[in-house]
Amino acid sequence: IQMYRVLALLRQTDGFLSGEEIGKQLSISRAAVWKAIGKLREEGYEIEAVTKKGYRLCTPQNLYNEQELKTGLQTKVMGQNLAFFTELDSTNNRLRELALTGAPEGTLVIAEKQNAGRGRRGRVWTSEADSGIWMSLLLRPEIVPEKASVLTLLAGLATAEALEAETGLPMEIKWPNDILCHGKKIVGILTEMDCEMTQVHFVIAGIGINVNTKSFPPELADIATSLYLESGKVFSRKPLVHAVLEKIEQHYQAFLDSGNSFAVLLEAYRKRCVTLHKQVQVLGQSPYTAYVLDITPEGELLVQKEDGTQEVVYSGEVSIRGV
Ligand code: BTN
Repeated sequence: IQMYRVLALLRQTDGFLSGEEIGKQLSISRAAVWKAIGKLREEGYEIEAVTKKGYRLCTPQNLYNEQELKTGLQTKVMGQNLAFFTELDSTNNRLRELALTGAPEGTLVIAEKQNAGRGRRGRVWTSEADSGIWMSLLLRPEIVPEKASVLTLLAGLATAEALEAETGLPMEIKWPNDILCHGKKIVGILTEMDCEMTQVHFVIAGIGINVNTKSFPPELADIATSLYLESGKVFSRKPLVHAVLEKIEQHYQAFLDSGNSFAVLLEAYRKRCVTLHKQVQVLGQSPYTAYVLDITPEGELLVQKEDGTQEVVYSGEVSIRGV
């Protein structure tokens, strides 16, 4: 569309660009330039206009839309095919539809607001507008279903590292992939897959990041938090989205390069994992208390039960609770 070509030109220019110059470069009339500027302003872009000098784009700080998110993303695959929605039921649901009709690896669905955001174990994930990053990323690894759960850990590790680097806040991981800041949950990840017995068709990593949430309902206030609540600062979401995608791409590449092994990421994961060397409650059919000895290269939890026997706990099958 015309307005985005005008936007691209203004982006490339440091100072002012006259209406005449824009018109010439895009082979459109000055009236069309004026109209495009008006539309961009309506979308929230601040464009300064000075007589005899022309137009100048004031750097958009917190614009969060498809055009903005596509600009400046330093990845080869992750997020290169990107769809933004102002409102959706769930980004995981929408991405699943796209995946079933052949969307390529790295496709990202992102929403300003979700009406039916889903959490793990059938829970609801509150996803208000202007407060967080609600996004789902499509992966098409050639792996057996048993191995897919390490992608959950990979996504968690990458997200934790990216957020810590961008915000300076410490990020820890509660196995398998809750991200905690100062002991409270700040990111949730819901990984879903489509597969047959021996082959994964695709994996959807649904990531929810509480960014500028100002408060949580009383029942969540003690366990949930946001970047804003931990730092007192409002964060613009675009650089965070980019940082997360760039980290995931880096780790995913390392995973593929090592023959689909999580071993290369294990040390970094162990360092951030608060579940390691702790007493936990393994929840399942018959819950029990155990001590966490290690995380295996397959991303499972190796625990020692109170009777001394060891057991391997798979993510997805059971969940754990600190004791
Ligand atoms: C959890 O329970 O911790 C997982 C929460 C996952 C929430 C994200 S938000 C984007 C994506 N779409 C969803 O419906 N859920 C995930």
